[in-house]
Parts: sequence; structure tokens; C-alpha cells
Amino acid sequence: MLVKEVLREGDLAIDATAGNGHDSAFLAECVGASGRVIAFDIQPDAIDQARRHVSACGFAERVEFHQESHTNIPAHASPGTVAAVMFNLGYLPGGDHAIATESPQTLIAIEEAVEVLKPGGLLSIVCYPGHAAGAGEAEAVEDKVTSLTEVGWRVAAYKMCGTHKPSPFLMLACKP
Ligand SMILES: C[S@@+](CC[C@H](N)C(=O)[O-])C[C@H]1O[C@@H](n2cnc3c(N)ncnc32)[C@H](O)[C@@H]1O
Repeated sequence: MLVKEVLREGDLAIDATAGNGHDSAFLAECVGASGRVIAFDIQPDAIDQARRHVSACGFAERVEFHQESHTNIPAHASPGTVAAVMFNLGYLPGGDHAIATESPQTLIAIEEAVEVLKPGGLLSIVCYPGHAAGAGEAEAVEDKVTSLTEVGWRVAAYKMCGTHKPSPFLMLACKP
């Protein structure tokens, strides 16, 4: 809902973890026919599946896919040009759970997202602390994104409380 609020017809958006393509298709719908989405995933199967899903939704023209790490964001987007960057961390649902996002790359890509976003742009990150590798990454991401408040960003977290094991949570940060 909040990402949809900030995106306008003609905007540029980034899907940093394309996976099965649901977020890419969502972003493509939000930016309209004159907008563009740049989508990254390191797995060929994810890129194939995401491309198929985006095409089936009728948005093939709007999304450019890169089978690359999201640490390559600066190679494809200039500073201050992007309206929203979306990360959905962890592993590909239905894929190899051993291939998942990892803290060092995620933190680099977040720093890059901070640069390419334009004022008023939104960073959206879903973290998965419920699995072993995801817990450390989620903590590092929460710290990193929270630290943006020191340079004027508005930051929010949305999470369930009192769950049996740590539940996924969403972090949102709006660039000043
Ligand atoms: C939870 S899935 C994303 C789901 C997706 N957003 C969707 O709508 O279906 C996480 C994805 O991140 C990808 N990934 C892992 N490390 C990555 C990296 N360094 N750069 C880009 N994608 C990465 C995985 O291959 C996996 O497909």
C-alpha cells in the first residue's frame, strides 16, 4: 500500500530480488506504461520464472531483468533517479533454500539503493529472521536502515509480536 502511494506513472523502480516476479509485476503496474522497472536476481531459474510471470501480467515491456547481484544497482541506475527500491530477502519459494540473500551483499545493495533513490523515494525491505541465516541478516538490516534516521530519513518497521518464532517483518524508509 505504501509503495503504491509513492509510485507515479512514468517512474523508475527497482526490484532488488526478483524471485518469482510478483514484486516486479506489482511495481510494473504501479509505474504504468511509461514507467520502467529494473529487476535483479542471481538465479537463472528465478529470472526465467519472473520474466514469465511479468509477461503473463502484460508488463514485459516495462521490466528489464538482470541476472546479477543487486550489488550491481549503480551499473543500471543513476543517483537520485529512482522512486522505490524493493527487497524481499531470503530464498526463492519453491527453489533451493541454500541460495539466499546474504548480509554483506544486502548491506552494500542497501547503501546503493540509498544513493539511487530520489528525494521522497521509498526503500522497502522484507526480512525473514525465522531461519538461521536470516536472523543475522535481519538484525543487520534493521540496524542499517534505522541508522538512516540520523541523516533525516523517516523509518518504520511493521512486525508481528508474540509469535512462536520470529516472524517476517517489513522495514520502510523514506528519503528526505
Ligand atoms: C524471497 S525471494 C524474492 C521473491 C520475489 N520478490 C517475488 O515477488 O517472488 C529472494 C530472491 O533473492 C534472490 N537473491 C539472493 N541473493 C541475491 C543477490 N545478491 N542479488 C539479487 N538477488 C538475490 C534469490 O535468488 C531469491 O530468488
